[in-house]
Amino acid sequence: MTATKKSRLAILTSGGDAPGMNAAIRAAALIAIREGWDVLGVRRGYRGLIDGDLRPLPAESVVDVIRAGGTILGSARCPDLEERPARDAARATLAEHAVDGLIVIGGDGSLRGARAIADPAEAGDGFATRVIGVPASIDNDVGFTSASIGVDTAMNTIVEACDKISDTASAHDRTFFVEVMGRASGYLAMTTSIASAADGVIFPEAHASEEEIVEHVVDTIERARARTDRPKRVVVIVAEGAGVPMERLQRAVEARVAERLGEPDGNFETRATVLGHVVRGGRPSAFDRLLASRLAHVAVKALIAGKTLKMAAWLLPGKIPSRLAVPSEADPYCWLVDLDAALVATERLRRGTSQMVRWGVRIFEELGTSLAM
Ligand code: F6P
Repeated sequence: MTATKKSRLAILTSGGDAPGMNAAIRAAALIAIREGWDVLGVRRGYRGLIDGDLRPLPAESVVDVIRAGGTILGSARCPDLEERPARDAARATLAEHAVDGLIVIGGDGSLRGARAIADPAEAGDGFATRVIGVPASIDNDVGFTSASIGVDTAMNTIVEACDKISDTASAHDRTFFVEVMGRASGYLAMTTSIASAADGVIFPEAHASEEEIVEHVVDTIERARARTDRPKRVVVIVAEGAGVPMERLQRAVEARVAERLGEPDGNFETRATVLGHVVRGGRPSAFDRLLASRLAHVAVKALIAGKTLKMAAWLLPGKIPSRLAVPSEADPYCWLVDLDAALVATERLRRGTSQMVRWGVRIFEELGTSLAM
């Protein structure tokens, strides 16, 4: 009697790590193992796939990783994947290890990589690996999902930092700029400016000129100076993609304050804090752990059902054409989106032409009119 081969899943995390990636790895591995699959972890993203660096991922290796930030598999940015020979090498690794299903956990570039590897036109009929994406990026710039894994934790980290900065800013009646990550997306800056009751926010989607930005900050400082009932602190959150280098912004605001408002208390100086990679690290929030577990569940179930070139997504029920997205049979709150459609929507988000971006900016302006600049 010949033993039937077990189906095999490979899991890969790629691009900028995001808190909750480990929760996704854990859920995908544990669910697949329970379904009778073998599970392999790919080391260092697509680099490991190209180099053939895959290791078994038994249940004991993942069961306790839900609390940890980063990714136990390691991650990398892999520009080589843009070249055909690297994609051929990745496909050869998948064939050599007889991988039936690949789950790619990552953001825009990682999902594009998944699409390129499984592209039927390039991979040909012989390519036997099904591929499903799971969106994970603190930037929240993946189309067709309301939330990517890691965004909630990143927002909480920023809000905590801004609360602390607000304490010292209030104590000294100072103006602080706080720069937050997000690449070309202003999502983190916009949401956290509301959640931390910041006095101002600068984000790329507003398309403000440098001059407008400076005048708006100075208006905010002027209003703060007029306050008599509470500290004259000003906290302005700046998205890293806003396009104004921090030093230049500080000097321009300081000069304009001196010109327009004068310097009643001696020299006027601003302070800047660049949160940088702090925003990307740390223990994932409960929401990110849950989101990651649920999206990974949907991804594994989709692979088992024979699906490929899809992305597990977190979307409110709405009128989405069924050729683009169908509700997941595994989880009524999740969707299975066509990977191509998700990538087109991601590109629109990046260019600022997406309806989601327009809604986001409008909702933001209604919630925080006094902040928008
Ligand atoms: O995409 C996630 C992200 O953290 C962005 O917000 C940021 O611009 C970028 O990655 C930083 O990349 P790296 O860690 O390669 O410097």
